[in-house]
Amino acid sequence: IKAQVRFDRDFIIGETDKRLFGAFIEHLGRCVYGGIFEPGHPTADGKGFRRDVLELVRELNPTIMRYPGGNFVSGYNWEDGVGPIEQRPRRLDLAWKSVDTNHFGTNEFMDWCRAADIEPMLAVNLGTRGPDEARHLLEYCNHPSGTHLSDLRRKHGWETPHDIKFWCLGNEMDGGWQMGAKTAEEYGRIATETAKMMRMTDPTIELAACGSSGRKMATYGEWERIVLEHTFDHVEFISLHTYLNNYADDTPSFLASPDLMDSFIDEVVAIADAVAARRRSRKRIMLSFDEWNVWYRTRRGEHNRVKEGWPVAPPILEEEYNMQDALAFGGACISLLNHADRVKAGCLAQLVNAIAPIMTETGGPAWRQTIFWPFSDFSNLGRGRVLRTNVDTPTYSTRYYDPTHTEDLYDKIDPVPYLKFSAVHSEADKTVTLFILNRHLSDDMQIDIAATGFGNLGLQRAHTLHHEELKASNTKNNPDKIAPRTLQGVEALSSRTTVTVPPASWNVVRFN
Ligand code: AHR
Repeated sequence: IKAQVRFDRDFIIGETDKRLFGAFIEHLGRCVYGGIFEPGHPTADGKGFRRDVLELVRELNPTIMRYPGGNFVSGYNWEDGVGPIEQRPRRLDLAWKSVDTNHFGTNEFMDWCRAADIEPMLAVNLGTRGPDEARHLLEYCNHPSGTHLSDLRRKHGWETPHDIKFWCLGNEMDGGWQMGAKTAEEYGRIATETAKMMRMTDPTIELAACGSSGRKMATYGEWERIVLEHTFDHVEFISLHTYLNNYADDTPSFLASPDLMDSFIDEVVAIADAVAARRRSRKRIMLSFDEWNVWYRTRRGEHNRVKEGWPVAPPILEEEYNMQDALAFGGACISLLNHADRVKAGCLAQLVNAIAPIMTETGGPAWRQTIFWPFSDFSNLGRGRVLRTNVDTPTYSTRYYDPTHTEDLYDKIDPVPYLKFSAVHSEADKTVTLFILNRHLSDDMQIDIAATGFGNLGLQRAHTLHHEELKASNTKNNPDKIAPRTLQGVEALSSRTTVTVPPASWNVVRFN
């Protein structure tokens, strides 16, 4: 099939924010214990951080890391995770029906972020706790010295303040599964009071209020409106969460599903701007898409989410991603890029083992899942100005099965362009990078590209992620089965260029 794309150097959607390329570490399954942190592992450093995982994280290149949850944070006492390790309490984690040893806590997380050169994003517990504990955690982390809590941090061995800038006011507070779930009014009030007290403690922080935990929530829309009516003057961000699924084993619908993220973003922007308009305010609330991924195999059914008997670090949510998951995932990356004007933070959920791009064996090796590849392209090559593109492509229509906890629901997605596309121009690197998802399952796609304002640019790299078997995945014994290969036949970028990509493929082409 054929498609045409046009773009111009001067027609810009927005500059990608560094924080768009983040990920997420929750106390969940083997994400922390046996994932990033495993004292005794052959590659562990003096702090117990797995160096093999750190190397893969550096290659993946996430820029900001959300911690410690997720559902976990809504029952977390931050005080349990600081101070001498042998004195830390073992606690029941009701979110994942596990026991947490608390051998890893806020200070260890900060050390890990420093080792990985990643900015922290901390979530506070607004489920079982409230503004008082949130301001105390902030004082412990960011206040230099001379108060009980800042001096406690120093006594614990961290002399210099952590200076954590980005804070999430709770997690998925609209969800019935959440410890301490709230109505929009209840949450709007507590988020506002927490934000006020946190900002009084440290005026340099940035705050994100919880949006809906999914576009299918019954309260969606009204939740955002009410929460923002309360919090508008006190926060910079509102959050969005999406997990794409292929429960129906319907590849065309699954590959169309990232387009629903585009709608979700547009709708939340509209609601946030309507709240601004009613106040005659020029302030713009930005979006933090702080949980997104593909997740379905290990999502439904208690047996997939918890193990019997309150284990420590059970192997839960260990989704094995296949080739088509990587394609849907790549589509999500393009949706985020193409909203770079308003989505200023994002977190792939999660980082290691639990619904993650990196898998490990406890005591054994670490390897890349299929979704590792589009994310590393997105993060390593997606920095710059996202350009407005005119995409002319054949389309299809589909019904995507997207159930809620209680109902079987379908979304009609029509039209679905076979080509999902983004173009990013970096002034700093003098590059133009094209992100190309061909959703046609059997045909190559020949894309005629008309680019203005760049003159002639040489080809720097072109690669494709494509495999005949859409259900093939990477495993411990075959970790490189799905990996990018050179995309042949791409020439330099002049005013007219043709790029041909395989069916069902994720492709990245960079000119400079
Ligand atoms: O990422 C897994 C879980 O999904 C998170 O803990 C929660 O916030 C969401 O429902």
